[in-house]
Amino acid sequence: MAVIRVLSGIQPSGELHIGNYLGAIQSWVHDQHEFDSFFTIVDLHAITVEHSPVELRENTLRLAMTLLAAGLDPQVCTIFVQSHVSAHAELSWLLECTATYGELSRMTQFKDKGKNDESIRAGLFTYPALMAADILLYQAERVPVGEDQRQHLELTRDVAIRFNAKYGETFKVPRATIPPLGARIMDLARPFNKMSKSSNSSSGTVFILDSADEIVKKISRAVTDTESTVKYDPENRPGVSNLIELYCAVTRDDPNEVASRYTMYGQLKKSVSDALIALLAPLQQS
Ligand code: TYM
Repeated sequence: MAVIRVLSGIQPSGELHIGNYLGAIQSWVHDQHEFDSFFTIVDLHAITVEHSPVELRENTLRLAMTLLAAGLDPQVCTIFVQSHVSAHAELSWLLECTATYGELSRMTQFKDKGKNDESIRAGLFTYPALMAADILLYQAERVPVGEDQRQHLELTRDVAIRFNAKYGETFKVPRATIPPLGARIMDLARPFNKMSKSSNSSSGTVFILDSADEIVKKISRAVTDTESTVKYDPENRPGVSNLIELYCAVTRDDPNEVASRYTMYGQLKKSVSDALIALLAPLQQS
């Protein structure tokens, strides 16, 4: 039977948060036992924005340690630093010459971070071609990521299909595997924004090394709304829905059923903190 290859990556651009864990790392830990899995710390992606070279080196090592603590086992999967394999940069160039300016211009992450800013680095624009190279180089079929990477995966597929058509069958065409719950955890203080490593508000972000006290404090201050009922409705009630989603991504319960269990935000928040503390305790101890 053919072995299915998995590849995913993460930027060493700050502390790992609960969104990274529930959206991606949790799936990595699972997939390593089922598939031939490769996980990369993408330092070349992290230099597409302003950074300190010293901090980047430290963050790369720290992230490697955190991934091991989170349960990645180098006996069963391959963990590596992107810049240590020069073929990533080499293939990236070929894919930059396959992707179009229009495609790269439409990437929402690029638009959010720097469109119309003359001083942004050219690498931020071509970033998705490097990400496609990361994946296609390993003939990966499954790419476990959070929701924010879906568009990059669609581009990777388009580029692979186009390359194969022009130069001959070369690459497997991969697909994103996105978890049904926890794929887009929102900022606790600003629930219309995604929780992010680079967010200025640490009060809105649960880092996976946060102490139990910090978790309780952040969850209890999470923005909800003034409604009197607990309801799962991500579009209209993003704050409370984000809390329900956090809880269900850990327990695998159904969000609507969980919403029906609570009448007060305080009780829901207590359950969310308890679930997160129990989830993170083994990782923090190792
Ligand atoms: P990065 O470093 O921003 O995030 C790493 C992973 O965490 C997921 N994630 C989230 N999931 C749920 N809720 C959130 N708030 C949240 N924030 C982040 C991301 O979806 C991602 O899966 N471009 C990628 C790194 C990359 C890559 C690759 C991924 C480079 N090459 C090849 C897969 C395959 C990125 O910046 O992820």
